Amino acid sequence: MTATKKKYKKVTTNSLGEMKQNGEKISMLTAYDYTLAKIIDGGGIDVILVGDSASNVMAGHETTLPITLNEMIYHASSVVRAVDRALVVVDMPFGSYQGNSKEALSSAIRIMKESGGHSVKLEGGREILESIERILTAGIPVMGHLGLTPQSIYKFGTYTLRAKKEEEAAKLLEDAKLLEVAGCFALVLEKVPAKLAQKVAKSINIPVIGIGAGNGVDGQVLVLHDMLGMTQEFNPRFLRRYLNLSDSITSAVQNYVADVKTKDFPNEKEQY
Ligand code: KIV
Repeated sequence: MTATKKKYKKVTTNSLGEMKQNGEKISMLTAYDYTLAKIIDGGGIDVILVGDSASNVMAGHETTLPITLNEMIYHASSVVRAVDRALVVVDMPFGSYQGNSKEALSSAIRIMKESGGHSVKLEGGREILESIERILTAGIPVMGHLGLTPQSIYKFGTYTLRAKKEEEAAKLLEDAKLLEVAGCFALVLEKVPAKLAQKVAKSINIPVIGIGAGNGVDGQVLVLHDMLGMTQEFNPRFLRRYLNLSDSITSAVQNYVADVKTKDFPNEKEQY
């Protein structure tokens, strides 16, 4: 058991703030189902994100836009049932908060009430500040998300590095400060230059968790299916694969098929 695991029996939004103050990096992974959430919670992950990347990796959509609020609640409630220790953050899906702040609040309330998640995450800065503030008034912790914001893919047209230009970098830093002042407990920074990400992390007191944002931030997040090597087509520079599960599963399935075809399975001991 790691020192962190012992120190935080249950991870809360306050624990993450403490980790930043103590210079301890925060670990975060996505999960969308009970079985994998149970395994990664047992492995000592600090934060589990029920990401709208479920739209890609679970449902096979090209973007994160199609996933619905009901589907996110389904995934989140499965994860929550599995988790003993990690803080569970649930992505608010596209269309559930951009309309107006009242709609944003009622979507966030549905997520908290129906899934049992511990907090929500929204993409964007100044444009959605009113929604963030309204959700916070209900006592719902909010994680921000800046940089590459996949729900806006049709506005930007590509998934390339964000905030390379000075103007965009300045807006990002300003948005990060606005989110902190509004009361967000943490911020995800996706696919931005490492130097800028470090500057943001040093400029605000809330934890900054990066994906493709270098090592100068307060924590790291990856999509579980990518880091386990279950997905194969997605190969950005920032992705470190810790397993090659796709190949392992393929060979297990091939062995099973062969055993069935050759009547090797089940054997004497595997029957009643
Ligand atoms: O939906 C997701 O998986 C995310 C992470 C990439 C941060 O938002």
